Amino acid sequence: MIEKMKNDLDFIKTANKAVDMYHGKKDELIPILMKINQEIGFIPKEAMEEISSRMHIPQSQIISVASFYHMFFTKQTGRHVIKFCKSAPCHVAGSREVFNALTNKLELEPGETSSDGKWTLTTTSCLGVCSVGPVMMVDEDIYGNITPNQIPDILAKYE
Ligand code: FES
Repeated sequence: MIEKMKNDLDFIKTANKAVDMYHGKKDELIPILMKINQEIGFIPKEAMEEISSRMHIPQSQIISVASFYHMFFTKQTGRHVIKFCKSAPCHVAGSREVFNALTNKLELEPGETSSDGKWTLTTTSCLGVCSVGPVMMVDEDIYGNITPNQIPDILAKYE
């Protein structure tokens, strides 16, 4: 319980720091959310409440912005976050087979986190490197021209 309270306070502190950094300007909501997501790894409910009260933005609006963009997480993520491109050019390059190999190996569906807290799997739209599709990102690392057979080796790098 004490640990949770400490986390809640840390979340609020981080939210305040981000709001201050952008002088609480309403049109800076996205960079503010980005800063919080970067520092905590996701945007906790407590941080959204704080932003809402500091910036006079309805919480429902903050939740809808945070949920709309693939780059934001509203729940605690695993230690490694996989973003798999599901856009058409990667699909044409064979992403479906790669994605099946990935979900089978991890035993996760998009949006899920493994029970050991190691992996979070998400899908995303174009990552901007369509010429090397199929493409996925693991944390900050980008992998292109992936084949289903390469999935175990890629994941093993994060052991
Ligand atoms: S479509 Fe996959 S990276 Fe652009």
